[in-house]
Parts: sequence; C-alpha cells; structure tokens
Amino acid sequence: MTEFNKAGIPDIPEPAVLKHKPKSVEKKSDMDQAVLWLMEGKYVLVEDEYSTGLRLLSELKKKVFGKQMKENFKKYRDQRSAYHFFSNNLLTPIKAGEVGLDKSPEIGWLERFYPEKAEIYLSFPQLQGLNSSWQWYINGIKYPVLSEKLHPYYGTYFPTRFDHLLLFESWLKQQNSKINLAIDMGAGCGILSFQMLNHGVQAVIASDINPNALLSIREDMDRMNIDSSKMKTIQSDLFQKINDPHDLIVFNPPWLPVKSNGEGLDDAIYYRPGFFDRFFSEAYDHLKPEGRIVLLFSNLAQVEGYHDEHPVISELALNNRFKKVDLIKRKAAQKSKKTKRRDHRKKEYIELWELRRH
Ligand SMILES: C[S@@+](CC[C@H](N)C(=O)[O-])C[C@H]1O[C@@H](n2cnc3c(N)ncnc32)[C@H](O)[C@@H]1O
Repeated sequence: MTEFNKAGIPDIPEPAVLKHKPKSVEKKSDMDQAVLWLMEGKYVLVEDEYSTGLRLLSELKKKVFGKQMKENFKKYRDQRSAYHFFSNNLLTPIKAGEVGLDKSPEIGWLERFYPEKAEIYLSFPQLQGLNSSWQWYINGIKYPVLSEKLHPYYGTYFPTRFDHLLLFESWLKQQNSKINLAIDMGAGCGILSFQMLNHGVQAVIASDINPNALLSIREDMDRMNIDSSKMKTIQSDLFQKINDPHDLIVFNPPWLPVKSNGEGLDDAIYYRPGFFDRFFSEAYDHLKPEGRIVLLFSNLAQVEGYHDEHPVISELALNNRFKKVDLIKRKAAQKSKKTKRRDHRKKEYIELWELRRH
C-alpha cells in the first residue's frame, strides 16, 4: 500500500545569515548612498518604515535599469538578475512573528513561520513575496470550474490562467465510464483533483514534490469537508512513493525546459533533461492495463523560442509504451491589452493529450 507523508513541514524563506554588520537606512537617509551599498554587496537594514524599503527598491531599480527598460531582451534579462541579486541585500527586521517597521502590511505567515522572540532578518523581496502570498491565501482564488474558492498556501503553485482547467473540464464531461482511482501528479493547489471529484472520480491521490502544495490541498479539503477516503495527499518525486496501479494519471507538468544558463530554478515552471522520460517510464509502471494518462501541455516552449522538441510527440515516436487516444487544443486566452506581455503569446495554444497504456 502507498505510504502517506504526514509530516507537513513547509518550505519557508530562509532568514539572512549576516556576514557583516548591516548599514542602516531611514526615511531621511541618503538614498543614492544606500543604493551604492546594495550594489557593493553590503547589507542595508531598513530601520523605520516599510515605505522606506519600497522607496529604496524603486531607486535601485532606476539605477540598474536606467531609462530604457525592456529595449533589448538579453540586456533586460541581465538587468533583471542584477536587480534581484542586489535587492536581496536589503533587509527587514522580524521579531516574534511581526515586521519591526512602522506601517507594514499584516502578513499572517510571519506569525506561523517565525514565532521566535529573537530578531531575525528577511530580505525585502522575501517579505514582499510573503505579503502577496498572504493576500492570495486569505482572499482565495475563484476558478471558473469550481464553486468554492481555493486558498493557496505559501509557496504553492496555483494557476492564474484557466485554459488548461477548461480543457480538462470538457474532457471530464465527456467520460462515460466510471474512473475508480486517479492520481493528480504535480497537483499544486489541487485544482485538477477537485475537478475530478466533482465529476465522479471515486478516489484521487494528489501528489507533489513540494510539501507546501500538500499543506495547501489538505487545508482546502478541510474547508470543503472532503475526507481522506475520497482524496489523499502524498509528497513524492514523481512516482517514488507511490505503489498502487491507477486507472488515470493526470499531469499538468512544467512547460519549459531549464536553460543552460541555470535560469529556471522553479520546479513548477521548468523541467530538467530526462524529466519526461522518467515520467512516462514510471507512469507506465503505475497504470493498470489499458489505464490512461491525461497530460496538459502547451507550445509555450516553441513560441518562447526555447526549442522545437515536444515531450509527448517524442515519447510517442520513440517508445512503445503508450498510444494516442485524443488530442484537444485550445487557443490560449489573451490577456487584456493592459496586461498583455508579449505579442507572440497570440500563437500560444494549450493541449490536452489523452494516452492509453499499451
Ligand atoms: C504547472 S504546476 C501544475 C499545478 C496544478 N496541477 C495545476 O494544474 O495548476 C506543476 C506542478 O508539478 C510539481 N512538480 C514538479 N516537479 C515534480 C516532481 N518531480 N514530482 C512531483 N511533482 C512535481 C510542481 O511542484 C508543481 O506544483
């Protein structure tokens, strides 16, 4: 029987370990000097108000990017990494679960993650990340395929575009025969699992490598009164901790290959070489005969100019493990004019691949 992880210890931002005494900065300080300190690799500690930190970051941005932002993509990317690197030297004091600065936003994660009495330091970008995550967590996010809101836990992937959810929803509606046991591989906030339960799948295992994702799912299961006979959570690197054979494996994997320059540390977005071969080989061993895979993918890697390889097409061409049952495509919804990032996104489409085990 599959063994379920109950530890539930989340990954949280690591406080800074200071190698030297930080410089202090306040509202009245010389911001140009403070920007230089950051760029020289010195720690700078905000001592009075949250807004002082925001102001200093905005000055740093001006200094790093100059006036012509986004003019040249490669240059912009280098500037962006430089900005991230320098901004990590800007520190905020945290004590007993609170930000030690006036007029700071309330960030409930701090109380849960850093209740210690002794002062610690988080970088300003870490604090901003915690703040934005807290807002999503307390307000929740509404998906067009679910009546309840989901409340993603800190560090959990949750989709902000819905095309793949709508594709999966229409696929689920077409299923006539009963699905007994399904696995939601890389479940993130669990949205695909909740969709499956709504469509009568008898039992779902939501699995992810990221411990925070499982905490997120368990909390939402409690909110929705879903008990563990219907849905279980398991922390596993692909199928490492999973034993039972399944009728269906659903996977919305990372869509982009890790770049050779090391960009792409985020496991939710980027996959490493060999990832899909491992997935298909392990999936083959964890499916009942005639069991199916539903893989949600897109041509994002091609439209973003990464490469022309497509992991599902390669799998079908090179190995004799699965046969294609169906491929449904949907043009990716455009963002509004205001938020649209790049024009070539117009060529993006989302795919649902249904494969059957040979
Ligand atoms: C694009 S997100 C999909 C999340 C969710 N299923 C959805 O459709 O919105 C990919 C998920 O795969 C997980 N993941 C990445 N590598 C993994 C691995 N080796 N084993 C298990 N999960 C993994 C990530 O943590 C992330 O939650």
